Amino acid sequence: MAEASNYEVTESVTEQTLESGVQHVNNPVLDLPQIVKKYLQKVIGYQQKENSYLFTDGSATVEVKVVSDEIIRIRLAPHSQFLDDFSYAVSNPDQHVAVYAFQEEEDCYTVSTNTVTCVIHKETFLIAFRDRDGKVINQDHSPMHWEENPDFGGYYVYCTKVAEDQEAFYGLGDKPTHLNLRGKRLTNWNSDTYSFAFDQDPLYRSIPFYIGLSSGEAYGIFFDNTFKTYFDFGAEVHDRTSFWSEGGELQYYYIHGPHMMDVVKRYHSITGTHYLPPLWALGYHQCRWSYYPESKVYELAKGFRSRQIPCDAIYLDIDYMDGYRCFTWNKHYFPDPKKMIKTLADDGFKTVVIIDPGIKVDDNYWVFKEGKENKYFCRRGDDYFMEGHVWPGRCQFPDFTNPEARKWWSGLFKGLVDAGVAGVWNDMNEPAVFGRGTFPNDVRHNYDGYRGSHRKAHNVYGMQMVRATYDGLKKLNHGKRPFTITRAAYAGTQRYSSVWTGDNVATWEHLRLGVLQLQRLSVSGMSFCGTDIGGFSGEPDGELFTRWIQFGVFSPFMRAHSAGDTREREPWSFGPEFEAINKKFIELRYKLLPYIYSVFWEQARYGFPILRPVTMLEQELESNIPREEEFSFGDKILVSPVVNPGQTSKRVYLPKGYWYDYWDQCFHLGGEEVEVATPLDRMPIFIKAGAVIPEFPVMQSVDLRLVNTLKLSVYYADSQVNSFIYEDHGDTFAYEQEIYLEKKMVLIGDKNSLTLNQSIDGLFTERYETYQLYFIGLPFNINRIRIDNKLVEWKSEDGIPVVEVSKDFKNLVVE
Ligand code: GLC
Repeated sequence: MAEASNYEVTESVTEQTLESGVQHVNNPVLDLPQIVKKYLQKVIGYQQKENSYLFTDGSATVEVKVVSDEIIRIRLAPHSQFLDDFSYAVSNPDQHVAVYAFQEEEDCYTVSTNTVTCVIHKETFLIAFRDRDGKVINQDHSPMHWEENPDFGGYYVYCTKVAEDQEAFYGLGDKPTHLNLRGKRLTNWNSDTYSFAFDQDPLYRSIPFYIGLSSGEAYGIFFDNTFKTYFDFGAEVHDRTSFWSEGGELQYYYIHGPHMMDVVKRYHSITGTHYLPPLWALGYHQCRWSYYPESKVYELAKGFRSRQIPCDAIYLDIDYMDGYRCFTWNKHYFPDPKKMIKTLADDGFKTVVIIDPGIKVDDNYWVFKEGKENKYFCRRGDDYFMEGHVWPGRCQFPDFTNPEARKWWSGLFKGLVDAGVAGVWNDMNEPAVFGRGTFPNDVRHNYDGYRGSHRKAHNVYGMQMVRATYDGLKKLNHGKRPFTITRAAYAGTQRYSSVWTGDNVATWEHLRLGVLQLQRLSVSGMSFCGTDIGGFSGEPDGELFTRWIQFGVFSPFMRAHSAGDTREREPWSFGPEFEAINKKFIELRYKLLPYIYSVFWEQARYGFPILRPVTMLEQELESNIPREEEFSFGDKILVSPVVNPGQTSKRVYLPKGYWYDYWDQCFHLGGEEVEVATPLDRMPIFIKAGAVIPEFPVMQSVDLRLVNTLKLSVYYADSQVNSFIYEDHGDTFAYEQEIYLEKKMVLIGDKNSLTLNQSIDGLFTERYETYQLYFIGLPFNINRIRIDNKLVEWKSEDGIPVVEVSKDFKNLVVE
């Protein structure tokens, strides 16, 4: 059945067919049998089951469930038989609901919480969501509908909502297109898309979650359906937004705003956040397909240390394995992996290795034998094994939706962990198969006991693989925080892994795309994300690589990677001029680590996205919608990466408030654009006035850090601004037992003084004793500085007043 024609059928519904609820249409494109579309009819009754309300039209049932004060879930059962209530995405389906109420009115029923009201219209079965003031935030355009799927006997399920005239749409994961998805029609089906292009769809991930923003108010829709799903944001018909699926249940969560930050936070509250990564995972990572043999790896490590360019991780791509057999070593290239990894570790490098899902069919290979004996590999509908070619040649593939197979897979990492491997990179897990793309639909999956075909399991296959990887590393590392990275993902994968955007290209267009994709991933719940710095395929010149490194400093995950058929791609590969700038920016990443780490903590603990598009900072301004090249990292640093060759200046919009240029500390009024010089050694970076930014001294890697004093740059503001600094061991889960420090710095400024109050919460003890405070932008001359009521001396460094204080100070006044 042609996908496009299904949609046309949906959209060509007439009033008459709505009345009868049934529509018979001949498919105009293909000569297929008639399709029967059914629409919900008039509501004739309801029933309550705790915080769920069930409404029926006599044949179909719709469940409206209050999940939290701000989240309502809708489910449709065409014949009143709901499917199993099981989700890989949702980790927290039952949250605290303070109060909710049900009411029957003349023409509708309402289910209300303190913040949102869901309205179910009796005559039409149309559903709407209103805020507390009665304003409609989101509403159905047509009643929910479905059609019998002739291919497998299930349903295609559809929901069509009203798209407001100026409504903008965000989210949906890794779509390589403009931030605002208005006018786009998109598909979710995890796909291996080497050298993808602008607007290509689908790519590697399926995140069926979007944010609607209209008249400055935002809401979210999370369509928790793992089948192939589609979204149309006013592409076919300007005033409609539709989402639909080739199977499964029409089940979605309405997530109330009104702020986009609230929506993302609440989306995280149901699908989880990324745990706090090990600190080293936030350093600079160097990857290539592939660094081998061992001598090449040593040479690389030496390349970093001899040039004093910081680096925390070196990656081994597929060539470290014996004939691409997962969990083995090529002993010719790597005769003693344990020794090599130890030598690297002593020099401050972690080793990360790739693991793919394809297991070579080879009866002399222990992993294949174990998988075969225990029936862990996927089978086709006729019971034969699913076989396909990937790097090792003929392969079979574990069914990661089988909990037993996941457990087995988790244990397979023992050898790698014993050898000292610190992190695992899961690739090709869409799953990718050479020649045919992916598995055929008839492959059977366990789906954690809720069995299904590949139609249902395809989009979660990679997620379940990296989940097993995460579980294994966590257990084998005795509770140390694992580091994993995955290419394929479904909503909720952030609980187990970071992601990268896959096989991009060394072009300026791709650099710009990366800026869009990482912002989009971040607001879609996948904040720990990065691009292949420099572009995977093709050859960047020095300028492009350097600009990409600069963007990398503000990418949550910072890794350079390149395909094997390209020239060398290390920070020094493009000559001394570029090397010096690359070094300066990688050092900047390390200086900012305490700030970056604190932003990751906010993500882990509260569900705030790490990258925030400008629209998110000032969503009431429609003029921000086209501003898609700049974003904030956390709430204190705004950046606008340079994404054009030869660009010597850039106009940057600063949101309302006051900002400091990071480079020259010049003060700027926000709410307007500024022209910023962008010679190759600068990218626009602005710090919010009132911020306290912690900085580490330059280090060669996180393990080699020596922090005797923490630098705090205090940016004056004539108002009150709060900053947070988070600190802990950096690699254990002790933070879950409150072994951490959360420092709150409250800055209060006026014309003649600046006060900084610090309160400290938590049980961790830092390794340093003092702070070095730099006061930037003071509008007055200092007469005295008091710390906890004692006068202290200060000095001046390049005109900036500096004072050293005990890390435990409570109150500091500069006047
Ligand atoms: C895929 C990955 C790429 C990797 C290559 C070889 O193309 O996306 O990152 O280097 O496979 O393993």
